[in-house]
Amino acid sequence: MANVVVGMLGLGTVGSGVVKLLSNHPTIQLKKVAVRDLAKAREISPDCELTDNPEAVVNDPEIEVLIEVMGGEQPALKLITDAINSGKHVVTANKEVLAKNGPELFRKAREKEVAIFFEASVAGGVPLISTIQKGLEANQISSVFGILNGTTNFILSKMEKEALPFAQVLKEAQDLGFAEADPTSDVEGFDVAYKLSILTALAFGKFVKPDDIYREGITKIAAEDLEHAAEFGYRIKLLGMAARLKKDAISARVQPVLVPLSHSIASLSGASNGIVVRGDAVGELMMIGPGAGQLPTASAVVGDVVNLATALRLQDFASYFHTKVGGDWQTVQDPDEWQSAYYLRLAVDDHPGVIGRIGTIFGEHEISISSIIQRGVTAEAANVIIVTHPVKTGNLNRALATLSKENFLSSIASRLAIFEDSPEQ
Ligand code: NAP
Ligand code: HSE
Repeated sequence: MANVVVGMLGLGTVGSGVVKLLSNHPTIQLKKVAVRDLAKAREISPDCELTDNPEAVVNDPEIEVLIEVMGGEQPALKLITDAINSGKHVVTANKEVLAKNGPELFRKAREKEVAIFFEASVAGGVPLISTIQKGLEANQISSVFGILNGTTNFILSKMEKEALPFAQVLKEAQDLGFAEADPTSDVEGFDVAYKLSILTALAFGKFVKPDDIYREGITKIAAEDLEHAAEFGYRIKLLGMAARLKKDAISARVQPVLVPLSHSIASLSGASNGIVVRGDAVGELMMIGPGAGQLPTASAVVGDVVNLATALRLQDFASYFHTKVGGDWQTVQDPDEWQSAYYLRLAVDDHPGVIGRIGTIFGEHEISISSIIQRGVTAEAANVIIVTHPVKTGNLNRALATLSKENFLSSIASRLAIFEDSPEQ
């Protein structure tokens, strides 16, 4: 294979792994790497020029492929755009930049006849993107869902196993190097929303704006919710879920849901990712693996670089462009329209008639209760835990708003959807 000259932005966790793995590929020549701080101690020193000027990498005419592993929206977006404009191909692990700017970036890449490869941006080392793009080419995909964030899966698994509160487990995850110093993107579900936006582009042809994806994080989940969920036969998991609905609409949401213990997704503990894809011809596929970490993520980045280097020498290179990744944004279904069963934990006064009144309000909003239990907190106050039959989410929200006006209600401590694994999911 002829030599391909590449440049890289970033030499942190992923970039260092890329340098290690590229040493097995002598035909790929890493010419320049940009970092923020040249004085920083590094776990690896690449055998090439190190610069603190990323433009020097992007503007080097000899560099044919730009690897972007610096992260964040800016200056990554500007640097990727400049690289595309100067005719360079791009390999990126940056879900945020793709989810927020996908249509524009791919439109520009097509115009300039260059490729953007992004295997590492979703599910790290799991080859999910190439599976959907190439392996499932013959399918119409109806849904993609699963665990797309290792940090939150680690936190929820440990909270359940050891009956610990969220804040304590988060601190432990940070000490172990799982969770970042600022864990907002992981625990509030932004990270999963970026990944889901990319998956909607692959599965249904168009990106969904991350802000249009319904999103709930895991910060309000208490150890007792995990315990009650287990009593009802479920485990709480933060899932990203996208489905093709009738009339070409799609639904896209990120939320902690109660997954039946019998479902394979429920058994994934620790920092693993696990994703289910449904296609009309293949049926159901599930992929499990490391969604993060130095070498797993670098495996995806270097895999892209090697595939791109091979494709660059093909006559029909254009076939490698992501022609099916849409040039526009996809709109999503109104969350009030979703049909789902719900788990609720209500903190109420322990007085006669309270459960009757809850039942009446639910009945007035066409909500049928499947199970209800009461757990004492003090002599005066109680936790009422309810599992409903499937209801329209808008009806549930209206019922909870009515309930909030009742003096006996102290708080709606938890409101979590129950995952139903149907082909429409
Ligand atoms: P990281 O450890 O923080 O490394 C970022 C690197 O980029 C550092 O070398 C930093 O330089 C450099 N950098 C940042 N801003 C820069 C600037 N303005 N100019 C020049 N260099 C700059 O990040 P990471 O964990 O490797 O993640 C990189 C990307 O991979 C992100 O998009 C992330 O979402 C994605 N990703 C990461 C994982 C994972 O497991 N870590 C998994 C999947 C995807 P200094 O070293 O000088 O600070
Ligand atoms: N913070 C992410 C996770 C890293 O915990 O899964 C990979 O995108």
